[in-house]
Amino acid sequence: MPKVLSTPSIEPLMQVDMTDNEFYRIRDIIYQQAGIVLAYHKKDMVYNRLMRRIRELKLENFSQYLRLVEQNTAGNEMQQFINALTTNLTAFFREPHHFKILEQHVRSRKGKYCVWSAAASTGEEPCSIAIVLNQTLGNTSEARVWATDIDTQVLQHAKKGEYRLHDVAALPDEIKKRYFLRGKGDSNGYARVRETLLSSICYQPLNLLSNNWNIPGPFDAIFCRNVMIYFDKETQVRILQRFTTMLKPGGILFTGHSENFSQLTKDFYLMGQTVYGLAKDLQ
Ligand SMILES: C[S@@+](CC[C@H](N)C(=O)[O-])C[C@H]1O[C@@H](n2cnc3c(N)ncnc32)[C@H](O)[C@@H]1O
Repeated sequence: MPKVLSTPSIEPLMQVDMTDNEFYRIRDIIYQQAGIVLAYHKKDMVYNRLMRRIRELKLENFSQYLRLVEQNTAGNEMQQFINALTTNLTAFFREPHHFKILEQHVRSRKGKYCVWSAAASTGEEPCSIAIVLNQTLGNTSEARVWATDIDTQVLQHAKKGEYRLHDVAALPDEIKKRYFLRGKGDSNGYARVRETLLSSICYQPLNLLSNNWNIPGPFDAIFCRNVMIYFDKETQVRILQRFTTMLKPGGILFTGHSENFSQLTKDFYLMGQTVYGLAKDLQ
């Protein structure tokens, strides 16, 4: 007689409906709080990301959840809501041509060199910047990276400086040896950023929409890559205008591969592929 195996019962995942009106409320809140524009075709993505939160909190529907989010705009659930709706895709040395330009710029400047990574996500971008500064200037307190993001969860990850071996696999061996340690025990399968590098990066939350950017500028370079794409033109113009006051004379702005601001502002001029200089430096 074949043995009959009893299969463990798997509870079906709870599903609830999200009405169009609930989606529009979500769209309005994330726009007001983070400047992120959500098109209707993102409804399924929004549903999946927030449904996870609704299940965790054992709530019955989206209206209950939205009441919780809206009841305190400075509260924890608003932050969780923002964290759930941001898209954090990033990689080490993403858009590699930027890092060659960064190196040349560092060599051309004197004194302290400070960079702001304004949408740092899980830290791959600020780490790549810190590596270039370290390779160019050596171990020095003259090099500093400020790394900010609206999403507090990715910042927690970034501060740990731990990445899957898969994420660092494509880095040259020399960089892996010099700036990473292979994780052991609980960190098996991970590479840890060496403390000397990690300590040159200062992580803190910052919403680009906020009126008060609590960060010490001006900077030699700003990396604001692959975030403005989520904002509307009005917000982009406002942020670009404020960047002019956050850059030192001769400072440069790096933007994402699909972010072209030439038609939006006269404050910056295009220096190279998605790299901008301050127009006032040309006068
Ligand atoms: C696609 S990632 C880009 C990461 C990195 N800059 C890169 O290019 O690889 C976009 C990041 O922007 C952040 N973000 C979205 N809205 C923001 C806002 N209003 N203020 C600051 N950061 C924001 C997200 O949390 C996310 O981590």
